[in-house]
Amino acid sequence: MSRFTNRIVLVTGAASGIGLASAVRFAAEGATVLLADRNAEGLATARASLPAGAHETLVLDVTDEAGWRALADDIMARFGRLDVLVSNAGFGKFASIADTSLEQWRAIIAVNLDSVFLATKYLMPALAASGRGAIVNMSSIRGIVAAANTGSYCAAKGGVRMFTKVTALECAEAGNGVRANSIHPGHIATPLTAAAYADPDTARKLIADVPVGHPGKPDDIAGAILFLASDDASYMTGAEIVVDGGSTAQ
Ligand code: NAI
Repeated sequence: MSRFTNRIVLVTGAASGIGLASAVRFAAEGATVLLADRNAEGLATARASLPAGAHETLVLDVTDEAGWRALADDIMARFGRLDVLVSNAGFGKFASIADTSLEQWRAIIAVNLDSVFLATKYLMPALAASGRGAIVNMSSIRGIVAAANTGSYCAAKGGVRMFTKVTALECAEAGNGVRANSIHPGHIATPLTAAAYADPDTARKLIADVPVGHPGKPDDIAGAILFLASDDASYMTGAEIVVDGGSTAQ
């Protein structure tokens, strides 16, 4: 199966976890993948796990507006289009509202939400030039269902969910052929959550919330990302896919 042959795909947060798993699968299905992350060392290691092909790694802090402008110019100059944008970079920290400083709040909103706005704004001309551009934005079940001590993360991921729908509507109105959808993972075992799963008490609590009884793998999310990015989802826009082992079904 080569759903992405001759397609240019950009994945942010691609040095690790869900981003890396999806970059590997895009590459396996024929895409030229641009792997962006702020972690240069992680990118070098990540690149080694990709099948042979014209893949590239880019050091980018997704909160840096000038970096996005430069990357958008570079993509247009070199490829003349972008077929798929996966805005995946993000992180969260557990803290009550009382214990969250404004600086910590802003940092979480910047990485998870500002990044999606900047990527969408600056890459839209390249996505429109594709004629079948697809945006997949990484939200979370925390963008739909709240949990205590995740205020800034829930606010950011809820923002990603709604911003994705606005993007879909503006693209439909413009008739530029770009689709935009969001993904909402539940509990997934990645480097981001490794510390939580390493603590038996926390791991038990997290898994108690998952009806299938175990956390998901990065590949479980990558499958949904590739579906939304592919022509199989050509009539899907402004939609959300929950991939959570049943957590939000209860
Ligand atoms: P991860 O920590 O394995 O990967 C995230 C990547 O994003 C890292 O390579 C990191 O260097 C990069 N990154 C962080 N800040 C960045 C910045 N400012 N600029 C560029 N790159 C940056 O985490 P994971 O679990 O793969 O998470 C990926 C996405 O999935 C995140 O948006 C996360 O919020 C979301 N998610 C994860 C869940 C989980 O249980 N692991 C559940 C729901 C959503």
